[in-house]
Amino acid sequence: MEQLRALVERSRGEDVPIKVLGQGANVLISDDGFDGVVVRFDSPAFQKVEQQGERFHVGAGVELIPFSRRCSRRGYSGLEGMAGIPATVGGAVRMNAGGKFGEFGDAVREVDVVTPMGERKTLSREEIGFGYRRSAIGENLVVAAELELKEGDPAKTHQKFAECYAEKRRTQPLTEPSAGCIFKNPTGASAGALIDRAGLKGTRCGGAKVSEKHANFIVTDAQAAASDVLRLIDLIRERVSREFQTDLETEIDIWRPRGGMRK
Ligand code: EPU
Repeated sequence: MEQLRALVERSRGEDVPIKVLGQGANVLISDDGFDGVVVRFDSPAFQKVEQQGERFHVGAGVELIPFSRRCSRRGYSGLEGMAGIPATVGGAVRMNAGGKFGEFGDAVREVDVVTPMGERKTLSREEIGFGYRRSAIGENLVVAAELELKEGDPAKTHQKFAECYAEKRRTQPLTEPSAGCIFKNPTGASAGALIDRAGLKGTRCGGAKVSEKHANFIVTDAQAAASDVLRLIDLIRERVSREFQTDLETEIDIWRPRGGMRK
């Protein structure tokens, strides 16, 4: 933790941006890379889980799927909808990961962060400001989250977890490389349904393709470049805007060098 605080202070002094890489599942890194410090919370200090009754203090580096599965198996309810969401706890807080089976933020009571000034601080639910796939975490680095999970019947919670997982596997291309859903759902509509209705399933740019299974996923082959994905994102946006007068906003986090990208 001290190392992290020192790193944050030094980066601020030298004006170098810091980003945390969780499971990388919602991130597209430009072909020109990212000109800053990338932190991973792999060390044991960020992997701890401490339980007191229905309260769980969970390190930012803890992986969401195995943790949620473990809680559900033991009858602690609140994370069943996290089945099939590849993320770390820190990333799940930041993006308020979730879907129609619930959002991670619903279980979060407080979050420990290191601020851009290098100070440790605890943020209340109100300060975290959860919204649809967003939070007000901003430049703060999440180091741990305090969760509240209701104790219930293990058979029920585990079954719910398994059902959420099965539904995702049925409707999403989980076995192919992708960055999850590319666009946020516009108010009152589904980005996947709009892209599908625009006839874009299967459309390719280089090694990137609109998934045939769920149109809000871009799946890639081994040769795909980030620029292929970015071109496909532009193409989808244009078509959906033209056909439905709807502007799609990306959900994924796109990392690029500060000076911009090569053309
Ligand atoms: N649909 C189509 N064609 C498609 C895809 C979807 O017609 O190609 C239709 C479906 O039939 C359904 C509607 O669109 O009637 C909504 O689809 P779905 O139930 O799959 O949910 P979604 O809104 O597309 C959201 C989240 C997912 C999350 C699921 C399940 C967003 C942008 N997406 O998908 O999140 O897994 O609900 O909870 O909010 C992610 O964030 O990376 C992600 C995958």
